[in-house]
Amino acid sequence: MIPYARQSIDEDDIRAVADVLRSDWLTTGPVVPAFEEAVARFAGAAHGVAVSSGTAALHAMCHVLGVGPGDEVLVPAITFAATANAVLYCGAAPVFVDVDPDTLLMDPADLARKATPRAKAAIAVDYAGQPCDYDALAAVCRPRGITLLADACHALGGADKGRPVGTLAAMTALSFHPVKHIATGEGGMALTGDAETAKRLTRFRSHGIDADARERERLGSWHYAMVELGCNYRLSDINCALGLSQLAKLPAFLARRREIAAFYDAAFAAVPGVAPLAVRPGVSHAYHLYVVRLAADVDRGAVFNALRAAGVGTNVHYIPVHLHPYYRERLGTGPGLCPAAEAAYERILSLPMFPGLTDAQAAQVVDALAEAVKSRHG
Ligand SMILES: Cc1ncc(COP(=O)(O)O)c(C=O)c1O
Repeated sequence: MIPYARQSIDEDDIRAVADVLRSDWLTTGPVVPAFEEAVARFAGAAHGVAVSSGTAALHAMCHVLGVGPGDEVLVPAITFAATANAVLYCGAAPVFVDVDPDTLLMDPADLARKATPRAKAAIAVDYAGQPCDYDALAAVCRPRGITLLADACHALGGADKGRPVGTLAAMTALSFHPVKHIATGEGGMALTGDAETAKRLTRFRSHGIDADARERERLGSWHYAMVELGCNYRLSDINCALGLSQLAKLPAFLARRREIAAFYDAAFAAVPGVAPLAVRPGVSHAYHLYVVRLAADVDRGAVFNALRAAGVGTNVHYIPVHLHPYYRERLGTGPGLCPAAEAAYERILSLPMFPGLTDAQAAQVVDALAEAVKSRHG
């Protein structure tokens, strides 16, 4: 079975992890800051704070912004639940914003409609690896005093008009889950241009304590001060060594993802009933996912099953978050709230996309989808 996503791990990666296992520091040692600096540099940000997941990065970002009870945070309906969950962790309310039907990115017009005076932040999601139109989103947020944050868990390596992800919002979340651009096992990072914000993110990831263990050892001091309630969201040297080794290969990974996307684009131009999502002009797409939309008369469930039977793994990203039972019960959300997202959800399919996908496998995906769609109209 061709999976829809898969990590690419080589002997360099394995050696890098083994080196840490032979060293003095397994958790927050010298590799954590080295990884933070390297990722931040790659993404164009001044500071990176490594955390245990992309979800932890989103939570930390909301926390340092002061998001709390009584606040609203605007999130797109098409995203992984983690984007909205981070808002709930802070005791605030997520407000679901509809997406542009062509790109499935947060729709600035619906953002303007849904923004109330209680809105403290908006979290734009670079769905599938395509950076949002941050200029348009900022034009809605700025006059209303809403801080624009980026969930770029899909988009490491992406850019908008030459500006890399990591420079497009006040803070940016990344994920290093194995299906993402680089893997650390579990892992994530919050990026920011502001040194004081980076300090607060670092403090939050370690219980709200203001100096880490290595720093205390250097100072020969036992004293530490917990100054706020934080979490244990630390990422270990073991994970960061894997991440640092993977980062060296990121340009090649991105190039291969883009090559596969170009192949799919060209192939599906000749397949009726299959349409790739639109790419905004000026965007450098990082292609975490390759998403197609099937025509209204194609039975998506039957196509999904036919592809599985043909050895092609696919997935659906995402069930709109406001349709999950937890959100329906807790926030009273449901169908009708974000019509474009709900309509898109019925028709989308994520095809295999990962650097290790071979040309022959990509061709197999195209042939299998074309065949499945041809025989499953209506
Ligand atoms: C858009 C989006 N945001 C946040 C996350 C959370 O990242 P993690 O799995 O590293 O916690 C994911 C992970 O799939 C995601 O796709």
